Amino acid sequence: MGKIYPTVSEEYKKAIEKCRRKLRAVIAEKNCAPIILRLAWHSAGTFDVKSMTGGPFGTIKNELAHGANAGLDIAVRILEPVRDQFPSLSYADFVQLAGVVAVEVTGGPEIPFNPGRQDKTEAAVEGRLPDATKGSDHLRVVFKEQMGLSDQDIVALSGGHTLGRCHKERSGFEGAWTENPLIFDNSYFKELLSGEKAGLLQLPSDKALLSDPVFRPFVEKYAADEDAFFDGYAEAHLKLSELGFANA
Ligand code: HEM
Repeated sequence: MGKIYPTVSEEYKKAIEKCRRKLRAVIAEKNCAPIILRLAWHSAGTFDVKSMTGGPFGTIKNELAHGANAGLDIAVRILEPVRDQFPSLSYADFVQLAGVVAVEVTGGPEIPFNPGRQDKTEAAVEGRLPDATKGSDHLRVVFKEQMGLSDQDIVALSGGHTLGRCHKERSGFEGAWTENPLIFDNSYFKELLSGEKAGLLQLPSDKALLSDPVFRPFVEKYAADEDAFFDGYAEAHLKLSELGFANA
């Protein structure tokens, strides 16, 4: 997309690859890919294209008290022993690398990773992450107007809910979206289309994808074709992880 990335040293690149291997090991050992993906997404998803503030710049630790981030202190703590081994990496790169690895080790698509994010100091403004009780208009305000992503990106990224579950004490919701919340596949879209099922959950913001005439065809396509989902997801995740970074 014509982006110009900062040049990083060979040493830095080596540290990234070493760190990637350590992250694979810890995420596999702790079975914690879902909360790590949520951490990376909540770090990046605060980006506001108009003010060029927020985004994947290492400030998530200062945002753990935000309501939307309930429980993410656990993810930060799990990653701490790995982080300590790679102090030369920016925390921004470290968190986004962890998000990419979480998708990879659960069987999801490979997502390109470009290093060089600089840490910022100022926490993002609270209230930019989406509200699960709201519908399509709200999703467009957050993902399109604020972050600068597309309708297709909204549907593809919502497929991140193929991993993990809701915890009553964190979000007020309880349950997983799919039968296999530690496997990254297209079952989120299949479940969404097949309707509510005992034991599984659909948030109002998930169901909004079904009732919206622009979102729904993507849901149908991704339910029918996992390769199409993986392509769309990888593209959208890459964009998410690089919001405000390396603008051409
Ligand atoms: C579309 C708007 C979105 C809304 C309203 C939303 C809302 C939520 C809520 C309420 C939870 C439950 C948190 C808890 O109780 O532990 C959750 C979990 C999760 N979200 Fe989202 N989310 C959205 C988009 C995304 C995106 C874009 C991704 C990643 C690409 C993502 C990945 C996850 C994951 C992996 C979990 C499970 C965490 C765990 O198991 O601990 N979500 N989300």
